[in-house]
Order: sequence, then C-alpha cells, then structure tokens
Amino acid sequence: MQKTRKSPKVWGHSLMPGPQDTTTIFETTSLAAPCSRNSTRRWPRPSKRPTQPLRILDLGCGTGLEIEALLESAPNASITGVDLSENMLEGLRARYADHMNQITLVTDSYLTMPLGRQAYDYALSVMAAHHVLHDTKRELYKRIRAALKPGGKYIEGDSVIPTVLEPQFLAEYHEQVAGLPQAEDGQYHIDVPFSIETQRALLLEAGFQDFQVLWERDRNVVWNIAVYVATA
Ligand SMILES: C[S@@+](CC[C@H](N)C(=O)[O-])C[C@H]1O[C@@H](n2cnc3c(N)ncnc32)[C@H](O)[C@@H]1O
Repeated sequence: MQKTRKSPKVWGHSLMPGPQDTTTIFETTSLAAPCSRNSTRRWPRPSKRPTQPLRILDLGCGTGLEIEALLESAPNASITGVDLSENMLEGLRARYADHMNQITLVTDSYLTMPLGRQAYDYALSVMAAHHVLHDTKRELYKRIRAALKPGGKYIEGDSVIPTVLEPQFLAEYHEQVAGLPQAEDGQYHIDVPFSIETQRALLLEAGFQDFQVLWERDRNVVWNIAVYVATA
C-alpha cells in the first residue's frame, strides 16, 4: 500500500525567529545535540583502520559535541576545528583537554578563511550552516571540495525544510535582512534552512560527485534535521 505523506506541521504565523548576531545565538543555544550524535554515529567509516591518521576538518565545531564520536571511530584522527566564537572553542578545549595534541582550533569564519587544498579526508559541519543563502553556500561548498582529498567526504548535519516551504522562508529572510541594511550574508543568524533537494543541487553544482542522505529525523515536520554526505 502506498504511504500518504502528511502535510507539514506549521506553528504560529512566522516560520522564522528574528535576526540575532551569529556568534551570540550559538553561544546561548544548544541546538546541535541530536544532529551531532547522528552526524558522527552515521558517518561512513573507513572499512579498514587507516595507517595514516585521518585528517578531519570540522566547520562550526562549537564546543565539539560531534568530536567525541569522531575520536571513538578514528582515535588517531587529526582534527581541525573552526569556529567564529572563542567562547565556544574555550568550551571545546576544556571538554577535550586530553586530546588537544590532535585537535587544532582556529577562531575564524569558514566563509572567508583559507581552507587549504586536498588536505583533508573528511570535512564535517553540524548544525552550523543554515543561515547563509544559495550563492554563499555554493561558494563555501566549492572551497570545501577543494580542501578535500580526491574521494574525500563532506558530511553535513543540519536543519532542513520541505521544498514547498522554501519560498516562505526566503521571503521572511529577505524581509528581516531589509531591516539590517549593512548586514553581509552570514553576519546575522537568520535561519534560512533549505530542503534536502536544494542541498543536493548546491553540493552537486559545487562539483561534488554524489550525494546521499544518511539519516532524517522526521520529514513531516517543518523543522526536520538530516545528515547527508557528498563525495569530492
Ligand atoms: C549550533 S552550533 C553547533 C556546534 C557543533 N557543531 C555541535 O554540533 O555541537 C553552530 C556553530 O557554528 C558556528 N558558526 C556559525 N557561522 C560560522 C562561520 N561563518 N564560521 C565559523 N563558525 C561559524 C557558531 O559560532 C557555532 O559555534
């Protein structure tokens, strides 16, 4: 029997909270936990334990919820974590004090800092990239692809919405940005999640070879979260 798809549950008039400074919104909320667990527990692990330490780039690593599972499956990994917020990175340093010999932290924006070329086996972003628009995200994905070794994987765990609601989210985003005339894309945290289909398109347009969804929480709600992987 064919399954019928329930319509998304929408609450309230507006789908989006108002703009907040990107650094402080993340410092004051802990949205990442379920997605962090699922991103790192479901990541495609190497079938053989690599002889060389895996090199992993974690964009928007925050306090590093996902790093615990990374270290479980790749105990010798060399991890570079990037975050705008020094406070979040302080939390990470305290949490992983025993592993700081294999973790390098960079306080910077992944939108502008050099990410390197063919340097990483994996790149990861967990709940850290749902506040930038298409062009900015596509450019970021191109730079992530260039930073990965050939065949390397980019894994993203983030909020996703049904395709049908994208125009409404975008309209609300533009309405809010209109009140912030000096704002550059990414400077303010205004949630503008995309559908899985848009994510797939952006990653393929950026030159990734393939795209697979690894996990979804619930595709019948407005704020779904999903984990997907693309190959460089
Ligand atoms: C919700 S937290 C997730 C943290 C971590 N990945 C986790 O799952 O525990 C999002 C993080 O992305 C960071 N972030 C947002 N935009 C960024 C940017 N352009 N460059 C670097 N970090 C950014 C925030 O400062 C924040 O620490």
